[in-house]
Amino acid sequence: MDLRTVEATRYVTPLREGGSLPGLIEADDLGMYVLKFRGAGHGLKALTAELIVGELARRLGFRVPEAVFVRLDPALARSEPDQEVQELLATSGGLNLGFDYLPGSFDFNPVVRDPGPELAARLVWLDALTLNVDRSWRNPNLLLWHKNVWLIDHGAALYFHHNFRPGWQPAHAYRFDADDHVMLPAAGPISAEPVPTGMIEEVLALVPDDWLTSDGVFDPAGARAAYLSFFESRLANSDQWVQELEAARVARV
Ligand SMILES: Nc1ncnc2c1ncn2[C@@H]1O[C@H](COP(=O)(O)OP(=O)(O)OP(=O)(O)O)[C@@H](O)[C@H]1O
Ligand SMILES: [Mg+2]
Repeated sequence: MDLRTVEATRYVTPLREGGSLPGLIEADDLGMYVLKFRGAGHGLKALTAELIVGELARRLGFRVPEAVFVRLDPALARSEPDQEVQELLATSGGLNLGFDYLPGSFDFNPVVRDPGPELAARLVWLDALTLNVDRSWRNPNLLLWHKNVWLIDHGAALYFHHNFRPGWQPAHAYRFDADDHVMLPAAGPISAEPVPTGMIEEVLALVPDDWLTSDGVFDPAGARAAYLSFFESRLANSDQWVQELEAARVARV
C-alpha cells in the first residue's frame, strides 16, 4: 500500500504561526492538504517521524488523516508575499509530506468529550512506544472530526534519530513522561500490544531514501535497520515501560 503523490498547485495559507509553520495547500487532485515542509526547522527528520508514526498508527487502527507525498515546485514561492513563507517554499522543492485537511475539525478536549477508556489507554501506549512527547493537555495534537478522534503531528516522535551516529544502538530504556499526556486521566488499564515486524518494515519502506540519508550517517538500508532495531528493542522491553505507564495511570485515579 503505497502513498499517493500529488502536485502542489497553490499555497493557500499558513495554519499557525510558530512551530514548523505548516501550510494549507491545494493540489492537482483538487484536494486540500496540510503540508509539512521539508525546508522547515527540523526538516526531513520531522517528516520521517510524521510518516513512520502516522502510518504505524493507521495500521494499528487509529484514525489518521490520509498521508500523501506532495511534490512542490519552488517557483510557487514567487507569488507569495510573506518572506518567511517564501523561504519555506523556495527550500522545499521535491517531495514533502501532506495530510488530508479535515475541514471543520476542532482541537480535541477530553474534558468536553470522553474518548472512552480503551482508545485513551491505547493512545498512551502508542505515544510511549514511539516516544511522542507532543500529546500534552496543553497541545494535544488530536482533532475531533465527525465525532471521532483523529491523530496529527508526530514530527517530534522518535527523537533518538537526532542522535544517529555510526554504530548507533537503541538504548535499553527511554525517558517518557506520561503524567502530562492528555489521555492519561481518561485511560483504562494500559497493556502492551504486539506489533508485527512486517508492519514496521512496511511502514519503513514508505520513507523516501533521501529522507533517510539527510544526516549523512546511514545509507537508506542502514537507517531502516536502525529504526527497526529501535522498535524491536522497545517492544521487547515493553513489560517494563508499560508497567510504568500503568503505575502513572493508577496514581492519577
Ligand atoms: N489534517 C488536518 N486537518 C485540519 N486541521 C489540521 C490538520 N493538521 C493540522 N491541523 C491544524 O493545524 C495545527 C498545526 O498542525 P500541527 O500540529 O500538525 O503542526 P505543528 O507544526 O506541530 O504546529 P504546532 O507547533 O502549533 O503544534 C493543528 O493544531 C490543527 O489545528
Ligand atoms: Mg501541533
